[in-house]
Amino acid sequence: MTRVTFVQNGAAKSYDVNLDDLPYQRHGRRGSLLDVALNVGFPLEHACGGNAACTTCHVIVREGMDHLSEMDDAEADRLDGAWGVTPRSRLACQAIVKGEVTCEIP
Ligand code: FES
Repeated sequence: MTRVTFVQNGAAKSYDVNLDDLPYQRHGRRGSLLDVALNVGFPLEHACGGNAACTTCHVIVREGMDHLSEMDDAEADRLDGAWGVTPRSRLACQAIVKGEVTCEIP
């Protein structure tokens, strides 16, 4: 089990998920933060369907940056145009969860 926490408007919601058994929700990368959010019913916006073509799934990683997949060039390029981007920003549809993570929806 891995704990994934989403923080929105100051309120944190934590979910214990089994990453090996997570059914793929067909939006974003399999096992991504977006995939986890859709599996647990957390309402994370994803206007482009998880294709790194918008920035509505922008999150700021508060803890567990090392527990996410590396950012690729396409994600970095897309994030450049995101509102409020920080060094801890990721696109939830591209960042694959590998361990405990806390992220905030800006
Ligand atoms: S859902 Fe559009 S970039 Fe992630």
